[in-house]
Amino acid sequence: MLKNKTHIFEDPARTAHAVAMRIINGVNKKKKSGDEPFNLALSGGSTPNILFELLAGELKSKLDWSAIRLFWVDERCVPPTDKESNYGVAKKLMISKVPIAPENVFRMKGEVNPAEEAARYRTLLAEKLPKANGLPQFDMILLGMGDDGHTASIFPDRMVLLQADETVAIAQHPISGQYRVSLTGKLIENAKELLFVITGDGKAEVLDEIMHEKQDFERYPSYYILANSHAELYLDHDAAKKL
Ligand code: 6PG
Repeated sequence: MLKNKTHIFEDPARTAHAVAMRIINGVNKKKKSGDEPFNLALSGGSTPNILFELLAGELKSKLDWSAIRLFWVDERCVPPTDKESNYGVAKKLMISKVPIAPENVFRMKGEVNPAEEAARYRTLLAEKLPKANGLPQFDMILLGMGDDGHTASIFPDRMVLLQADETVAIAQHPISGQYRVSLTGKLIENAKELLFVITGDGKAEVLDEIMHEKQDFERYPSYYILANSHAELYLDHDAAKKL
């Protein structure tokens, strides 16, 4: 049984609120240490949307937007205006509504050649982030998990990305074939704070297999990140119902 610290909430809204407060507290703590900015990497998919709306809404004034920098865990290789764009969704729901300086938002460019963008983002992270354990280190990374157990754009058919030496690599969705740019496992595990935010009963089965190390758990990339790191889980009751 995996022992990762697990926080369970009534519903997606309360889960998102707890994650938002974790971010706000992290920013404030870093400011107090005089070591700002707080470097946060965001995942895509639909789970973070409620968090984006909270941070752009009722919690907007609680976050010092001058003390945070936004990066991405992964991006679909589409233009930023595409509805599939992780950056595009974050911009629509949050970035366009909060006083963050554009120079503190570091999107992955889905519209350019994937290999070139992966190389550019590798260099960017090496330049912008402090190092720890020989790798760029984020203050916090927010991860989601697909119902196939993928996280970031590390899918079950490309587990090699969990151990890749490259900090940022090209990935491909196993069904749609859509190219992605994604952080890889070792960089993800190097984050100071690593939060899996997982809601909805569609994830309950895979989470049960992963946390209880049973059935197909070894096929799920999320298992390895959880098993190899201090990642914490932020879950709603539906996702946690089998734990
Ligand atoms: C992406 C994400 C991906 C996501 C999971 C969960 O670009 O799709 O980074 O890893 O976190 O697929 O997606 P949902 O939140 O939509 O369930």
